[in-house]
Amino acid sequence: MIRRHLRAAGIALAVTLSGFAPVAGHTQTTDQDAHLAIENPADLTKDDALKYYKSLSGRMARGYAAAQLDVIRNYQNWPLFNDAPYISATHGQRYVNSYANRVASNYGTLQEGEVLPAGSVLAKDSMTVTDEGNTHPGAMFVMEKLPAGTSPETADWRYIMVMPDGSLFGDTMGFRAPAVAYCHVCHEAVAERDYTFYVPEEYRLAE
Ligand code: HEC
Repeated sequence: MIRRHLRAAGIALAVTLSGFAPVAGHTQTTDQDAHLAIENPADLTKDDALKYYKSLSGRMARGYAAAQLDVIRNYQNWPLFNDAPYISATHGQRYVNSYANRVASNYGTLQEGEVLPAGSVLAKDSMTVTDEGNTHPGAMFVMEKLPAGTSPETADWRYIMVMPDGSLFGDTMGFRAPAVAYCHVCHEAVAERDYTFYVPEEYRLAE
């Protein structure tokens, strides 16, 4: 059902599903908590979103780098698939970007039934911008395609969430795996696109 809706309505429906995003079991209540949607996100033009990102991206990169995760090393040099940061209701009302490493060369053109090769990494960084103009780096959301058979219950996708200071929130293949099990549950809605939602149409870069 959800799957059919998602396909028909695209991301608009995913936005109305944002109630899914907060999960039981998390305990943090500050705006550092990437699960809790911020209440008053600013409504930014693409130009303004780009400006905020430009001023924060260095700090964001340094923060995530503290996690020392090889899979996202230098992710800001990877192909970027959106023309400006866009609000992701499903990732806490934060402004996000969708990067994919070069192994994931078919991420942008994936047809129904096709899959991304093992070694593909999708990295989504995020920032908070409130309507008062306060900005902070947000969490980093990562999907890594593992070799076939490594994680059958997640169709060989590994999900990782890294906090802005580089601390690990959870990794389905290791630290606090249950805390990030909900990632795949939602991404299952787009199983036919190898569990990737891709970028909202109005933010896609021309191929
Ligand atoms: C309630 C649904 C939902 C949950 C839960 C969710 N996501 Fe997503 N995810 C989406 C949607 C919708 C998109 C595409 C739009 C966007 O970027 O927000 C997406 C996009 C992504 C992308 C870019 C790749 C792509 O095209 O799908 C990554 C990476 C990602 N999510 C990682 C995660 C991780 C890691 C978690 C758990 C910490 C998570 N997601 C939890 C719905 C969800």
